[in-house]
Amino acid sequence: MAKIIIKTPEQIDGIRKSSKLAGQALEYIAPFVKEGVSTEFLDEKIVEFIRDNGAIAATLGYGGYPKSCCISLNEVICHGIPSKNTILKNGDILNIDVTTILNGYYGDTSRMYTVGEVSPKAAELIEVTKHCLALGIDQVKPGNYFGNIGFVINRYAKSKGFSVVYEFCGHGVGVDFHEEPQVDHTSRRNTGPIMKPGMTFTIEPMINEGRAGAVIDKADKWTARTIDGKLSAQFEHTILITETGYEVLTDVIGEY
Ligand code: MF3
Ligand code: CO
Ligand code: CO
Repeated sequence: MAKIIIKTPEQIDGIRKSSKLAGQALEYIAPFVKEGVSTEFLDEKIVEFIRDNGAIAATLGYGGYPKSCCISLNEVICHGIPSKNTILKNGDILNIDVTTILNGYYGDTSRMYTVGEVSPKAAELIEVTKHCLALGIDQVKPGNYFGNIGFVINRYAKSKGFSVVYEFCGHGVGVDFHEEPQVDHTSRRNTGPIMKPGMTFTIEPMINEGRAGAVIDKADKWTARTIDGKLSAQFEHTILITETGYEVLTDVIGEY
C-alpha cells in the first residue's frame, strides 16, 4: 500500500490556492443553474472560469473521462457526464463536481444545486447529506482514525432513514488526483490510518434516498445511478489536517 503523503508548507500553499479556485467555481456557476439550461453549458462555463484563472480541469481525460466536470442529476450518484441533451427542469436536484489543477496542485469539491421547487424529500436528502459532510469534517484532527469519518456519517444518515453509498469513496488529494488514503463513508469506529498534520484529502459522502447500491451505465461506462431509481445527493470538500484540527481548503464562503 502506498503511503499517505505529508505535504510540505510549499505544497500546502499550492493545494490551498487550487482548492480555493475549485470552491470559487462552484459559487460562480450557481446563478447559471436554472430551468432550461443544459449540463454541457454549465460544464463549458466552469471550464471558461477556471481557464481564466490559470487552471485546467483534472477530470478531462482522466481514465478516459470525456468532460471537465461531473454533473449528476436526481438518481445519478456520481460521474454524470455533461451533455447538451440533459436539460434542467423544475424540481431537479444536481451535484456539480469540479477538480482543478493549478500550478500542478489539485483541489476537489462538489455541492448540490436545486432547480425551482423541489420535493420536501429531496430537500431533506440534501440537508442530511450536507450535515453528513459536516459531521465527517468534525472528526478531523491529529491522532484520530480515518475510520471515524465514515462511522459518524453512516450512523447519522441511517438515523434519518437514508443509506450511504459504499462503492465510491473520498481520497487523498493535492499533488495527485487520487492519493492514499481511501476515505470510506461507511467505516467502523477506530479503524483505518491515523490522521497527521499535513495530510490533505477529501470527504465526499453520497447519500441515497433508498437502497445504497449503484449501477454503472452500460453505454457510457461512467454514470453511476441508484439501483432503485431513487434520489442521491453528495457534498465534497478538500481538507487539510492542521496541528490542532482542520482547514477546509475548498470552503470559500466561510461555512467552516
Ligand atoms: N471529482 C471526482 C472525485 O471526487 C472524481 C471524478 S473522476 C472522473 O473524486 F473521472 F469521473 F471524472
Ligand atoms: Co474527490
Ligand atoms: Co470531486
